[in-house]
Amino acid sequence: MSVISNRALSMWSLCVFLLTVSILITPSTSAMDTFVYGGCSQLKYTPGSPYENNVNSILTSLVNSAMFSTYNNFTTIGSNPQDTVYGLFQCRGDLQGNDCARCVARAVSQLGTLCMDSCGGAFQLEGCLVKYDNSTFLGVEDKTVVVQKCGPSLGYNSDELTRRDAVLAYLGTGDGGAYNTYRGSTSGDVQGVAQCVGDLSPSECQDCLTDAIGQLRTDCGAAAWGDMYLAKCFVRFSVGGVHSHGGNGKRFRHSGWWFPIFGSLFVL
Ligand SMILES: *[C@@H]1O[C@H](CO)[C@@H](O)[C@H](O)[C@H]1NC(C)=O
Ligand SMILES: *[C@@H]1O[C@H](CO)[C@@H](O)[C@H](O)[C@H]1NC(C)=O
Repeated sequence: MSVISNRALSMWSLCVFLLTVSILITPSTSAMDTFVYGGCSQLKYTPGSPYENNVNSILTSLVNSAMFSTYNNFTTIGSNPQDTVYGLFQCRGDLQGNDCARCVARAVSQLGTLCMDSCGGAFQLEGCLVKYDNSTFLGVEDKTVVVQKCGPSLGYNSDELTRRDAVLAYLGTGDGGAYNTYRGSTSGDVQGVAQCVGDLSPSECQDCLTDAIGQLRTDCGAAAWGDMYLAKCFVRFSVGGVHSHGGNGKRFRHSGWWFPIFGSLFVL
């Protein structure tokens, strides 16, 4: 009897283990689940404190709300001002309802593991961004470069460069005031996408995108693809649909936060 239950128990543990491993290593069913970056504040809260309850309540609100909109923000006011927590999520504009909610739930669960007991955390998957902190970052423009990656050089090809610049230029201009929606542009075989976090005003969004595009032009010269994620907006392009998740030139400069990169810890 005890042998059977031990065996049952170890089968159960094995299942849980395999399930966990498969969630961690299975290439995600959709590209939307692809990890872009995660970061945590170096400040920690005391487990079991009111602050922890407020963080959990913010994260739950984000997941519940993602079914109904692509962007939302929440503030949980603590009885002690120090315990107030702010949070937001932003789905890619083309992900709605179930897809947005699924992405946010996944990001929140990974954020919980990565940033255990951290006062603040941010997690960006391809399909969505989730962020919480105890300082007011809502509605504040932030052009910190969080991720910058460039693909291999295509060599000099003036047609390709012209098309790429046209795509980037289009992404950097207002198209009917739809600043906070996901924007795409294609010219020949060059594709580009851009989006701001929904708490920016149109002019702040414009300014953020202009910055991101300028940096892509400078840093990713004649690259086959480039990704530029600033704290409140991103711009990406690729030539000929080429886009791998490797690439060089990563930068993480969010001071007071740490970002894990492929298992190593970079404290800034
Ligand atoms: C955030 O929380 C930390 C740790 O509890 C605290 O030291 C800091 O003052 C808080 N910041 C704000 C803006 O409340
Ligand atoms: C936060 O959410 C509230 C309620 O949905 C909204 O009125 C407000 O504009 C939002 N603030 C920011 C900075 O996005």
